[in-house]
Amino acid sequence: MTLIRYLALSTLLVLYSLMFLGGYISAAGLGLTCPEWPLCPGGLAPSSEYLLEWVHRLVAAITGALVVATMVAALVNGGADRRMRIVAVTSAALVGTQIGLGALVIDLKLHAVLVAVHLGIGIALFSTVLLTTLFAFRLPRARAAVP
Ligand code: HEM
Repeated sequence: MTLIRYLALSTLLVLYSLMFLGGYISAAGLGLTCPEWPLCPGGLAPSSEYLLEWVHRLVAAITGALVVATMVAALVNGGADRRMRIVAVTSAALVGTQIGLGALVIDLKLHAVLVAVHLGIGIALFSTVLLTTLFAFRLPRARAAVP
């Protein structure tokens, strides 16, 4: 598999896991177990009571890095058309907004509107990452190999 396809597909899978974990945290009422930002009490090695929230943040950071890497790959790939670049750049904008919003969700103690917006942006992000992945798999093989 070529780099851009590998990046886009890994981003999609990691993002899916992140949303699954977020849904679990929300449904289990664990949203405020870690009251600090950006790290939980205990820093880089939090105790088990903060683990799920801490993992949600860690996977969010990994997702952010993957989304940005996919965007860069789409921007430098000569075979990527305008639509692919637009969805890749939109994904990067959405992931930045989502991570910032995550901090607000904590700060404002899970305000219902913010949690709903957090879910809404998550779904929009999943859609744009899915589209980027579909575009990546439609690139001609020789083009997908660059970079
Ligand atoms: C790419 C980044 C992120 C994505 C895609 C994402 C996605 C999600 C999703 C889908 C949910 C479930 C929402 C629901 O069921 O209503 C959730 C919950 C949550 N997320 Fe994120 N999240 C991200 C980053 C963050 C960050 C950086 C924080 C910061 C601490 C955060 C804090 C939370 C909290 C506290 C909940 C639970 C809300 C509740 O208890 O109802 N998220 N997230």
